Amino acid sequence: MILFKTLKQLTERVLRRIGLEPLIYHYVCRKNLRRFANNDMIFLAANPGLTLPPPQLRFDVIACSSAEYYVTTGKKMADQIQSVIQKWGSPDTRVVCEWGCGPGRILFALESLDAGKTMEFSGSDMFAPSIQWAQSVPDCRIAFHLNNMEPPLSQPDSSVDFVYAVSVFTHLSDTLSRAWFREIIRILKPGGVFWFSTHSGQQHRNELSPAQLEKLNQGQFVAIHSWHNGSQMYTGIHCPALMKEIVIASGAELLEYQPGGNNIFQDAWIVRKRP
Ligand SMILES: C[S@@+](CC[C@H](N)C(=O)[O-])C[C@H]1O[C@@H](n2cnc3c(N)ncnc32)[C@H](O)[C@@H]1O
Repeated sequence: MILFKTLKQLTERVLRRIGLEPLIYHYVCRKNLRRFANNDMIFLAANPGLTLPPPQLRFDVIACSSAEYYVTTGKKMADQIQSVIQKWGSPDTRVVCEWGCGPGRILFALESLDAGKTMEFSGSDMFAPSIQWAQSVPDCRIAFHLNNMEPPLSQPDSSVDFVYAVSVFTHLSDTLSRAWFREIIRILKPGGVFWFSTHSGQQHRNELSPAQLEKLNQGQFVAIHSWHNGSQMYTGIHCPALMKEIVIASGAELLEYQPGGNNIFQDAWIVRKRP
C-alpha cells in the first residue's frame, strides 16, 4: 500500500513537471464519473425536483461528481455562511455575493434559506461552463456573472454587504490573491464582511519539497501543481502569517481566524471593511 502510494505520488510529480497534469485530472475525473454513476441515478430518482449541473461540472467544482455529495455539502456550507451573516453581518445585510461560485452549489442553497425573498444574491466565476449552466436555470433569482482571471468584478464600489469565497484563494497565486483581496474590499460597503477560506499548508506538508517547506516556514507563499491559476490543478498555500499580512495590507479588520474552519481541510477567515 505504502509502495503504491509512493509510486503514485512520484508519477504525479513527474507528469506535473513535464506539464502533463491534465492527464491525471481527466483520468481521475473519468474514474470518478464511473464510480458515482449508479448512486447518482438512485439519488436523482429519489429527489426528482433537483436541478443539478452535469457530473463533469460537479467534478470541476468540488473534485467529486457525486450528486448527493454536491447537494449535502452545498446545503451544509450555505448553513455555515448563513450563521456567519447572522453573527457578523449588520442587521440590514441584503446584498450578498459569492466570488468563485462555480455553478452555484452554495448560492442556490443559500437563496432557498431566504424565506422572505428580501435579499439580493449574485455570483461570479471565471469558469464559463459553470456560469453558463447557472444562468440557464429557470426562474432563478440569482444574478450570475462571468469574470476574468484578474479583477475587476462587475459590482460598483461599496455596493455589497457580504461576500464569501469558498476555496478560491486556494487556486490562486500570491499576486492574484492580493489583487483579488483588494477587489473584494472595493465592492464591499464600509462595515461589510468577507468570509473566505485558504490552505494553511498543514494538509500538504508531505507533498512539498524541502525548499517549499522552508518557504512555508518563513511565511512565504507556496504553490503545488504546475497547471494554471484558478484551476483545480493549481493549489495555492497561504500560511496564516502570510494571509494576515494580506488582510492588514488591504486595510481591512480581521474579525476571526478559524484554523480548519472550512470542513477541517481549510482555514476560514472573516474580515470587515473598515467603516
Ligand atoms: C474549488 S471551486 C469552489 C467553487 C464554489 N465556491 C463551491 O464551493 O462550490 C473554485 C472555484 O473558484 C473559481 N475561480 C478560480 N479563480 C477564480 C477567479 N480568479 N475569479 C473567479 N473565480 C475563480 C473556479 O473557477 C472554481 O469555480
